Amino acid sequence: MPKKLTPDNYKFSVAPMMGVTTPSARYLYRLISKKTLLWSEMIAAQALHKGDVNKLLSKNDIEHPVVLQVGGSEIDLLKNSAALAEKFQYDGINLNVGCPSKKVSQGNMGACLMKESDLVKDCISAMIQETSIHVSVKCRIGVDEFESYEFFKNFISTVAESGCDTFIIHARKAFLKGLDPKKNRTIPPLNYEYVYQIKKDFPNLKFIINGGFVNLQDCQNQLAKVDGVMVGRAIQSNPFLLTDVDELFYNQEPSKIDRLTVVKEYFDYIQSSFDHTSGYKLLSPLLAMCFGLPGSKKFKQDLNELIRTRDVARLKETYINLLAA
Ligand SMILES: Cc1cc2nc3c(=O)[nH]c(=O)nc-3n(C[C@H](O)[C@H](O)[C@H](O)COP(=O)(O)O)c2cc1C
Repeated sequence: MPKKLTPDNYKFSVAPMMGVTTPSARYLYRLISKKTLLWSEMIAAQALHKGDVNKLLSKNDIEHPVVLQVGGSEIDLLKNSAALAEKFQYDGINLNVGCPSKKVSQGNMGACLMKESDLVKDCISAMIQETSIHVSVKCRIGVDEFESYEFFKNFISTVAESGCDTFIIHARKAFLKGLDPKKNRTIPPLNYEYVYQIKKDFPNLKFIINGGFVNLQDCQNQLAKVDGVMVGRAIQSNPFLLTDVDELFYNQEPSKIDRLTVVKEYFDYIQSSFDHTSGYKLLSPLLAMCFGLPGSKKFKQDLNELIRTRDVARLKETYINLLAA
C-alpha cells in the first residue's frame, strides 16, 4: 500500500537511474533495506500519455516507499502523470529538472528547464493540485552559463511558490552542449556549498543532497547540514552498501541481512518473473556486483546460454559460487 511520505522518508534515497533502477533492481534493494526511499527511472510524461501505462508503471508491492520520476513541461501531460502515479500507488512523484541529455532537452524536459523557473512552478502547482501524493523536484545547481548562487536561489525561490517543499539537488551544474550525460556526471565540479547555503536561506524547505557520495558515513554526516542524501552509482555498483542504511538513517536495529539469503530470495523473484521480464533485466542488478571477481568473465560468457535455456537453478548456483569464491 502507498505510504504518505514524510520528511523522514527522504533521509536516504537510491537515485533515479535510467536503465538501472528498474522494478527488478528496486526489488533487490528492498530486500537489503526496508526503509530506503526508492526511485523509478525517469519516464517521459508524453510516454505516460501515449504508451502502455501498465507496462511503464508496473512495480512490485514490496517496493514501498517508492517515487515515480517523470520528465516533461506540458502541464496537462504532467497532471496526467500525477494522477497515474497515484492510481498506480506510487508514494510520491518527482519532476526531473536535471537531465542534460540532448534528446531530453529537445523534448523541453530535464536540466534545460532550470532556465524556465516560472514554467516549472506552474507545472508543479498543477501536479500538486492533481494528486494527494507528495510532489518534489530534482534539479542541478545551475545550467550552462547560469552558474551563480543567485541564479540557483532564484530558481528554488520561484519553484517553491508552487507549494513544492522538497528539492533533490545534484550538486553540480549541467552543460547542455558539449557534454554527454555521463560526462555531465563527472566533469562539472561538485559544489556542496551551494546546497548547504540554500538550506540556510530556505530553512523551511527540505533539501536532499546528491552527487559523488560513496560511503555511508559521509552520507550520514550530511544530515547535520541538509535533510537527506541520495546515492546513485555507488549503489548501482554495490547494492549491499544499503545494508546499514536502516540502522544509520532510520534508527532501526542493526541489520541481520546476510548476502547469501538476499541473493537466494532474489533468485526466487527471478524465477517467478522469468516469463514476463527479460533475463538480462532481471540479472543486471546482480551483475555489477561480480565485476572484477575471479571467474566473472566466464560467468558472463555462460550467462547467455543460461538465460537461453532459462536454467535459473544453474544460474543461481553459478552466481553463488562466484560470490563465495
Ligand atoms: C546510468 C544513470 C542513469 C541516470 N538516470 C537518471 C534519471 O533517469 N533521472 C535522474 O534524475 N537522474 C538520473 N541519473 C543521475 C542520478 O540520479 C544522480 O543524480 C547522479 O548519478 C549523481 O549521483 P551519484 O554520484 O550518487 O551517482 C542517472 C545516473 C546514472 C549513472
